[in-house]
Amino acid sequence: SANAMWGGRFSAGPDAIMEAINASIGYDQRMAQQDIDGSRAHASMLAAVGVITDKDAEAIREGLSQVLTEIEGGSFAFSTTLEDIHMNVEARLKEIVGEPAGRLHTARSRNDQVATDFRLWVRDQMDAAIDGLEALMRALLGQAEAGADWVMPGFTHLQTAQPVTWGHHMMAYVEMFARDMSRFRDARTRMNECPLGSAALAGTSFPIDRHMTAEALGFDRPTANSLDAVADRDFALEFLSSATICAMHLSRFAEELVIWSSAQFRFVRMSDKWSTGSSIMPQKRNPDAAELIRAKIGRIMGANIGLMTVMKGLPLAYSKDMQEDKEQVFDAADNLMLALAAMTGMVSDMAANTDALEAAASSGFSTATDLADWLVRALNMPFRDAHHVTGSLVAMAEARDCDLPNLSLADMQSVHAAITDEVFGILGVHNSVASRTSYGGTAPSEVRKQITRWKEALS
Ligand code: ARG
Repeated sequence: SANAMWGGRFSAGPDAIMEAINASIGYDQRMAQQDIDGSRAHASMLAAVGVITDKDAEAIREGLSQVLTEIEGGSFAFSTTLEDIHMNVEARLKEIVGEPAGRLHTARSRNDQVATDFRLWVRDQMDAAIDGLEALMRALLGQAEAGADWVMPGFTHLQTAQPVTWGHHMMAYVEMFARDMSRFRDARTRMNECPLGSAALAGTSFPIDRHMTAEALGFDRPTANSLDAVADRDFALEFLSSATICAMHLSRFAEELVIWSSAQFRFVRMSDKWSTGSSIMPQKRNPDAAELIRAKIGRIMGANIGLMTVMKGLPLAYSKDMQEDKEQVFDAADNLMLALAAMTGMVSDMAANTDALEAAASSGFSTATDLADWLVRALNMPFRDAHHVTGSLVAMAEARDCDLPNLSLADMQSVHAAITDEVFGILGVHNSVASRTSYGGTAPSEVRKQITRWKEALS
């Protein structure tokens, strides 16, 4: 039989496959709370402007409370025939309160409802991402404070470059995650406008008060164009693109943790809580959580590209294509929150192996740049010449299978006669990092300043 909500001009019901492809209730029931909040605000507004009676609005609001209780309690029977959360809620409301339920849909459309519900849902996820990022930043600050002066190799091209401090490396991620947080904040501010009352696409002749509903739902204002309001999904795309960048940062860090926890590096030991064993190889401690965090970027970026592709060719205003927005955003949000929480737990629990870090920092000629800088400062050599002399000394040490501090002064003077034994004072890794006091540099004193700055910013 024809649809109870819109079947007036239909005589036959849909094909079973039509019903299957058309229905979104299987997933948009996640927006039940938002849908009911929107309907309550709309009913109150309709009464306030005199479109429905206070008595009807009251009946609607009470009925909606019961619907929500049923949904939360798991007793609500979702129906695919009723397509989506909007019609499932309204149909049940009709069963509960009768005639007033039919007045709720005055001056609104499902197009406004879905745009409003989805915005409210995405807005919550922006807040959750911000909270998750804050927790992760705090965990990183804890690691940075503990190891503000532990030395480790800094890499470029994954080749030893110069010694850095553990705290400096942790604080690099604090900067990245702080930018991620600010992207979610910016996007949240931009998206916080209420589409409700667009009435499908053109607005309405009823004397509705869109400012009232916007305020009731915590929006800053109503959207200013009824066509844009129902056709826009850039708020979801901004969530997904911010999530993609954040997931990319998580993935890079996860990759480092995978490398660092290997037997070849031994820079960190993941706690038992974040490792798994092997059913055949008894010695294994696999960094599965880090690997899965590294992988999450795949589906999150996939969702971003997926929704962008859905939207790119749609004429204004609403098209049913847009129903394909939700699953990808739900999935991306769920997995981003999981990745943030797992990374936070892993970072809080991981133990740095300071001996292995220091040994690695001291090998690979990591202080060659310090040596070249010293030649510039002590011998007034042009940097390019100093670079060349240092290169010869590195080649000599390499040929002897030793590190730079193991060369004798005579060895050094055979490359450049003016070198003095003062040079040995600058070849140590602790001297090296302590000397990097430029703003934003790796010196423990600088890193501590940044830690203090961020702790204040987060409090
Ligand atoms: N289930 C729909 C969606 O998710 C709701 C809006 C449907 N509107 C319409 N006119 N068919 O997009």
